[in-house]
Amino acid sequence: MTVFVADTCAIAPARARDMAVEIVAETAAHVPAREALLDRQMGPKRRLKSSEKLRRGRLPAEGLALSAVDGEGNLVGTVRLWNVAAGVDVDGTAIPALLLGPLAVDASAEGLGVGSRLMRAAISKARDLGHGAILLVGDAAYYERFGFSAGPTGALAMPGPVERSRFLALELVDDHLAGAAGVLTATGRRMSERQLFSQAA
Ligand SMILES: CC(C)(COP(=O)(O)OP(=O)(O)OC[C@H]1O[C@@H](n2cnc3c(N)ncnc32)[C@H](O)[C@@H]1OP(=O)(O)O)[C@@H](O)C(=O)NCCC(=O)NCCS
Repeated sequence: MTVFVADTCAIAPARARDMAVEIVAETAAHVPAREALLDRQMGPKRRLKSSEKLRRGRLPAEGLALSAVDGEGNLVGTVRLWNVAAGVDVDGTAIPALLLGPLAVDASAEGLGVGSRLMRAAISKARDLGHGAILLVGDAAYYERFGFSAGPTGALAMPGPVERSRFLALELVDDHLAGAAGVLTATGRRMSERQLFSQAA
């Protein structure tokens, strides 16, 4: 298993002894546990979200599907990012960006910093890969700590209903979303039929 992020985020002492968590690249072996975790933490309606329209039938952005695994190899957290066009700039040129989500941590590991480690790893990796901005729909009270705000999404829209205060962005390159306007569209690699089948299983 390739471990490419080793941060030193403190884990609550009472649980740290029991839970040595690593952030690793997602593998095919993680997929069933990831889907079960998402069903538990987000419920079956997760597939009806506006963000899902930008993910359905697509592969995550290259190198940007991450898993948190405990010392026994159990999946305890997941985050993925997706290639999108964040509307167009003032010249009408599509703006490449990433959509983050879903982010989820197993109930057994919540509050131990795993979500934060996944977020920091995802942001760092996206920056290293040269991406200009990350967008997401989520609770500002959680995502503000990583630098996300609703300011850059003011003239952007999701392809479905979204609460404006939950439509957030982080610019990795200064002013990457300056003048961005319009509806987000999916630009990621399409899944093969085989991949579609295995993801749905
Ligand atoms: C949200 C989630 C990913 C956080 O993971 P985590 O590993 O527990 O998060 P961390 O340990 O890094 O951070 C915990 C902190 O975030 C806060 N927090 C967690 N969820 C929050 C939320 N929705 N809004 C505001 N703060 C939140 C906790 O109160 C805690 O605060 P503290 O540091 O002041 O004590 C996890 O609770 C989860 O999977 N929730 C269900 C799925 C979900 O809602 N995902 C999308 C989030 S919008």
